[in-house]
Amino acid sequence: MDAFLVERILSDDGRSLLDSLPSYDPASVMALTTRLRAQGHDPELVSAVLTQSALRHRAVEKFGPDAARMFFTPDGLEQATRPRIADGHAARFAAAGVNHVYDLGCGIGSDARAFARAGLAVHAFDLDPATAAIARANLPGGTTVSVEDVTTADVPSHVGVWLDPARRTSGVADITGRTRRTFRLEDLLPSWNFVTALGASGRAVGAKLSPSFPRSALPDGASAQWTSLGGEVLECCVWFGPVADDSRFTARVLTATDDVVIRSEHIAAETDSVDGLAAFLYEADRAVVRAGVTGALADAVDGTELAPGLGHVTGDVRVDVPYARRYRVRQAVPFNIKNLRAWLRSNDIGRVTVKKRGVRFDDARFVRDLKLKGDASALILVTRLAQSQIVLVLEPDDSDEPDPRP
Ligand SMILES: C[S@@+](CC[C@H](N)C(=O)[O-])C[C@H]1O[C@@H](n2cnc3c(N)ncnc32)[C@H](O)[C@@H]1O
Repeated sequence: MDAFLVERILSDDGRSLLDSLPSYDPASVMALTTRLRAQGHDPELVSAVLTQSALRHRAVEKFGPDAARMFFTPDGLEQATRPRIADGHAARFAAAGVNHVYDLGCGIGSDARAFARAGLAVHAFDLDPATAAIARANLPGGTTVSVEDVTTADVPSHVGVWLDPARRTSGVADITGRTRRTFRLEDLLPSWNFVTALGASGRAVGAKLSPSFPRSALPDGASAQWTSLGGEVLECCVWFGPVADDSRFTARVLTATDDVVIRSEHIAAETDSVDGLAAFLYEADRAVVRAGVTGALADAVDGTELAPGLGHVTGDVRVDVPYARRYRVRQAVPFNIKNLRAWLRSNDIGRVTVKKRGVRFDDARFVRDLKLKGDASALILVTRLAQSQIVLVLEPDDSDEPDPRP
């Protein structure tokens, strides 16, 4: 987005034109454009405020009612941290006694807003003048936002540092026409070396990275936390110095009702035979799997893992675990189409939903080969049991019967 145009949107005229628009409705954009131009508004400004109105509409999903007062760029909105997660970043700095944070690459300012909400002083930076102007508009008055390349900025040793490096290769579009996201550490801007050098300086440093961050890349003395929201893993944050955890790897799972941190490097016992499968199958949230803390689930349900680190735990006890889904195991068979087909036929199952984890195969062909017939439906999970592939027929178990443990 062009910095000059952003300044016009943020001017008194631009803001009042934007605020005068009706709720965004894609079907009425053409008519609205014609009407605003006929009223004498500059076509370029009309187009810019209508784009802003569309972005605000899209941003409601992420920012709720605040979206109606915020400003966005398309990339900035997509890269912005969700406020509930950003509040967690801010809380970590605050808990470590940090009261001033430099946000080195602030985008439209979602993390920086959370730092300000937590009462921290913020100095935000962005290389891109248009993005920085938008961040300035989104941040409370008095927050400093500098247009500067942070790799040459002067970062005092007493401040906390936040980085959310851009993960895009600019100018490379994917099949949807959007700028392609990259997940390689070496493609980060500012670079991974820059992040780790700051981390090694002893400051309180946090960096938001892709969930695909490999555990093996974590520098000594740092900790990594994978966060999921509503079942989707959205980020891995690496923390250094006073904001690092004692546990190297943790997961934070946010649901509609819970916010839990799972820490365990305990490797759970494994089951090695289909016959060893208990009444329930627990499926860990993917953040737990990414963090390698699936042993915590096995401990919580007093169960055993099907294959190390995969996040499938079998147990006989019904426990509600906020970071796992629980299923009843209706049937467990080795991965053998013929036997599975016979079982599905005998149970009148004509429709299946297939889930898989830790295995690779062609789902469409698998379903075709089952030659389904019948009126009932079933949930099928193809997963690993020790070294082999197995198929479980599952039923979500959301009932709240009391824990049968004495
Ligand atoms: C992923 S976005 C930050 C999103 C932000 N945390 C939020 O929640 O809204 C990364 C930003 O870093 C900026 N950036 C990348 N390299 C930079 C550099 N060397 N100096 C300053 N800013 C940089 C990009 O322009 C981009 O706006």
